[in-house]
Amino acid sequence: MSVEDPHSFSDFTQGLIQHINFEIEVNFVSHTLGILANYHLDRPVTGSFFLDTRDLQIKRISQDGKNVEWELDMEDDILGQRLHLHELDQVSEFSIQLKTSPGASALQWLQPTQTAGGLHPFLYSQCQMLHARSIFPCQDSPSVRFTYNATIKAPEALKAVMAAESMGDMREGGSTVSSFHMPQPIPSYLFALAIGELVFQEVGPRTGIYAEPSIIDAAVWEFEENEEKLIQAEKLLGPYLWDRYDLLIMPPAFPPGGMENPRLTFLHPSIIVGDRSATYVVTHELAHAWTGNLVTNATWEDFWLNEGWTTYAELRITELLEGKDVEQLIWHLKRTAMHDAMANFGYESRFTCLSYSQEGVDPDIVFSSIPYAKGAAFLVCLEEAAGRDVFDAFIKHYIETYQFTSITTDEFIAFLLENLPEAAERVDIEEWVHHPGFPESAPQLSSKLYDEVESAISAFTKGILPEKKTVKNWRALQVIQFCLDLQNQEVTIADCKYFEDLFGIDDSASAGLRRAFYLFAIPAGYEDIRPGIERYVEQVGRSFFLMSLYRCMVKVDWTREFARSLFEENRHRHHPITVKSNDAILTEAGL
Ligand code: BES
Ligand code: ZN
Repeated sequence: MSVEDPHSFSDFTQGLIQHINFEIEVNFVSHTLGILANYHLDRPVTGSFFLDTRDLQIKRISQDGKNVEWELDMEDDILGQRLHLHELDQVSEFSIQLKTSPGASALQWLQPTQTAGGLHPFLYSQCQMLHARSIFPCQDSPSVRFTYNATIKAPEALKAVMAAESMGDMREGGSTVSSFHMPQPIPSYLFALAIGELVFQEVGPRTGIYAEPSIIDAAVWEFEENEEKLIQAEKLLGPYLWDRYDLLIMPPAFPPGGMENPRLTFLHPSIIVGDRSATYVVTHELAHAWTGNLVTNATWEDFWLNEGWTTYAELRITELLEGKDVEQLIWHLKRTAMHDAMANFGYESRFTCLSYSQEGVDPDIVFSSIPYAKGAAFLVCLEEAAGRDVFDAFIKHYIETYQFTSITTDEFIAFLLENLPEAAERVDIEEWVHHPGFPESAPQLSSKLYDEVESAISAFTKGILPEKKTVKNWRALQVIQFCLDLQNQEVTIADCKYFEDLFGIDDSASAGLRRAFYLFAIPAGYEDIRPGIERYVEQVGRSFFLMSLYRCMVKVDWTREFARSLFEENRHRHHPITVKSNDAILTEAGL
């Protein structure tokens, strides 16, 4: 089976990368990685071989010590540059010596002041969507999988980690050389490394946490339940095939809330709230170990197979751990985010479909909550049509059938029709997958926890503000949902002041709560929050949170005025991906 991937220059019929040996040397002065990469292909290649790259400085390509002719012969804003190896003669192994660019889109080089400890620099990678190609030449498509070994040479005061098995560290002069081994084949977007002042602590036999020393204790408390989470996840999804499940707590500039790098989820520090209210992000990244990392979307056009399935699994695990009512409350939050995204694109936009052509489309720019919540709702529909027991058997069969492979939406539908024919008959698959908007027939949500939020909103519309004693018993996520629902209400500046005090916004450790507050307080014209917004943008680098904030700011006069300058002041703090997506919002708004 050969996949067409609109986001790769590769030609998969030429041969496939099967294994890579990396020797990586980190240079914190020039902000570059020096890399020697040795490639093994799945067959001998004769003639041309194409690889994806972005801003790489290629020094030499060789085979058995002989130079290989190459050129960068195609260039595209979204895809980067095509590396063309010429006139290969039965070649199944070659080496590339290269240097990354200081602006490599996958890498962020942090100053000591941008870390928790403040004393040492920090480097990390974020390869999803199309950024692995800015570290090493590859067939940068989720349809291609390879194993790898790697060594990382870094200053000895720092610790290097990878989303791979650690094979130990060795001193070499003033440096440490750390070795890694990734025996399970992964797609390029799951390649990941980080280097900083890191310590490790176990929370269970298969689970542990890497973090900077000053935050390790808080992290251990917040994520103490990870081993139990893993056990519950296995009940739903089958055996965990990646050996360990560790977390790496990132510096605040890390763009996503969490990234499912295999064996080692990279987690934004704002997930440590102090009350475990954001740990559903860990549940989500853990679920990716099956849906995404074992069964992978073949291209980013099939992104909903990764995120819709993972959102579905996340919620099922939450139900096992915390009950139906909490699960349904989290569903409300996800639906709210999805509707916001649909309103942004327009309900008729093709970007609201689960599957559509992404030819000429940058997947980072069209990223939204839609494949998550619409995809998961589609799966709930199928579950309801099949019955839970039948669907649970289907889930395990699906994962077992496709583990360590990548599949397209069409392949999934064919599998569905074959294995759940009766349920598939009763669900309008065509509408769910190929039509824009959110189907009327979507499952209804029902949660007592949400009902409390809803009645507080309905009281608010009659001029009655919620009292402290009511809100005191609310869960953190109820407060967030309440604030998000206030976006659709007439809110006065006096109301804003009341809620700011009621919910303790100023000293809240919850980035999610502060965001939800700003999203209604900005349109309400509450100008006193300007310093708070400025601090927020400086302290919370989460790209998806910032995107929603900037989208809101550009629509309202008083914030529109300073949105661009605020962004420019913080540009140097952000990851290149965060810069790109947020810059696009401002530019599109004419700023
Ligand atoms: N894989 C995504 C993060 C991602 C998406 C990185 C697109 C780069 C491009 C991850 O699994 C994710 O979805 N994280 C969410 C949290 C989740 C609970 C919805 C996030 O970062 O907010
Ligand atoms: Zn995800």
